This record gives sequence, C-alpha cells and structure tokens, in this order.
Amino acid sequence: MAVTLEARLAEAVRIAEEAGRMIVKAREEQCFDQRLKEGIELVTDVDVAVDTFISQQLDKHFPGELQLSEELSPEQGLGTKAPLWVVDPIDGTVNFAQGLRHVAVSIAWLEEGVGKVGVVHAPFLDETFTAFKGGGAFCNGQPIKPSSATELPATLVGTGFPYDRAARKALMPRLETILTHCQDIRRNGAAALDICDIACGRLDAYVETVSPWDFAAGWVIAREAGATVGRLVEVPEGVSIDLYPKELLITAPGVFQSMKSLLLDAI
Ligand code: IPD
Ligand code: CA
Ligand code: CA
Repeated sequence: MAVTLEARLAEAVRIAEEAGRMIVKAREEQCFDQRLKEGIELVTDVDVAVDTFISQQLDKHFPGELQLSEELSPEQGLGTKAPLWVVDPIDGTVNFAQGLRHVAVSIAWLEEGVGKVGVVHAPFLDETFTAFKGGGAFCNGQPIKPSSATELPATLVGTGFPYDRAARKALMPRLETILTHCQDIRRNGAAALDICDIACGRLDAYVETVSPWDFAAGWVIAREAGATVGRLVEVPEGVSIDLYPKELLITAPGVFQSMKSLLLDAI
C-alpha cells in the first residue's frame, strides 16, 4: 500500500527531531572537529554524523528511495522524477560552530520532481515547521501564514551570502537597493529558517542563491503557508522548479512583484 504524505511527514519529523537531539548534545559536549570544504566552506564531524544518521533512518523506513544530501550524496538525483529525499543535516553550520541558535535540520520529499513533504526543525529554538502538499503549513502544530506586507518600506528582507568572498562583490548593488527601498536586512545564517520565517510572517521577503538541500523543505512549507515562491531567473528546461536553487525569491504575496522588479533593476 502507498505511504500517505501524512505518514511520510510524521516519519520525517521523528527523524529530524532525533537528529536535532544529536546536534544539541554535540554542542553541549563540544566534541567535534571542524575543517573547510574546498578551502572555504565550514563542515564539522557533526554534519557528517547527522547526515549518516538521517540517511540510515530513511533507508530503513523508505528502502530504495533516492537521497540527495549535502554531506553524503550532493550530486544524487538532481534530475530525477523518482521519489527523492533531500536532506541538509545542519543548515547553519557556522552558527552551530559559533554557539549561535539559528540552526536547523531540513528534510524534504519530492515525487515526480514536485516537493510534497517538508520539515525544518530548529533544535535550539524548539521550533518544528512542517507541511505536506495540500495540507497547509504549521509551526509546532499551529497553522502559519505569511505577513500582510504590501509596501517595500515595510518589507524586512532576509538573505545570505556565498562562502566564496570573491562572489560577494556582485551582490553589492542588490544590497544597496534593498537598504535604500526596504525596511532593513537580516542575515540569520540558515536559509531553511529564513524561508520558514517568510512562511510564518517574521520576514517579508527572502532572496538568495543556495543549494537544493538548503531550500527544498522550506519551499514546500512556504508555498503551503501561502507565501509566493519564485525566482529572479527562469528555471532551465528539464530541471525541477522545486530543486533549482538559483536566485530564489520567496515573499509575502503582497510584495512579490515589487521586490522582483526592484531586484531585477539592480542586477
Ligand atoms: C548555508 C546557510 C546560509 C546560506 C548559505 C548556506 P550551511 O548552509 O543556509 O544561510 O547563506 O548559502 O550554504 O552551509 O550552513 O548548510
Ligand atoms: Ca545549508
Ligand atoms: Ca549544511
């Protein structure tokens, strides 16, 4: 018998919360090594251990289903139509290593390239955002919705910056236009949580280029909450719109068009 989306979500939440306990314990014990991937991107032993735990749990409960995950299988399944789990074991690794609280476990499930289940669990904030397709979006079991912002001067914008410092210069015109026209900027260091903050109305707009595992679950949650999910660029032919991670723009519905025009004018 086919597994329902509710059952998939329940299992993903259980796994994410268990992973969250591993993350909290590792910070309490401060017993992890860290290094730089490709010389620029921080990764700790805990990222790898949590990814391994999640992968083993998914294998056990959903045998044979593909997994795309940041630390174990980052190239896996990108173009697939087959059922696919997309995992970021620790979103906000720099925050985790620095003792900051914006840290999340992010797990999404896609079928036919469509995001159908998403969980983003923030173990230091005691928040779990959840959604499945057609079922609405929730934080700790309570329904959530985006803000009612309609004007740019009242739009609080979340974003992030690439680890590669050389790639940051190109974003300066964008920052200038946001700081000139919008309320302000937040850089909280965990894309999955930034997107959930759009879903529940704490932020009004989010723009960033990330990787599939950073946004896949948050995207399902934001869409189910009623936020507008889109991009500043077209998605290439044959690529899933729920996995293509470039130039994401996710906003409260009342500011999507004005944010898009503002940001396109600044490129
Ligand atoms: C990062 C965070 C950050 C975003 C980066 C991501 P990581 O994920 O989501 O907010 O700006 O682009 O790579 O490396 O902590 O999993
Ligand atoms: Ca991430
Ligand atoms: Ca990560």
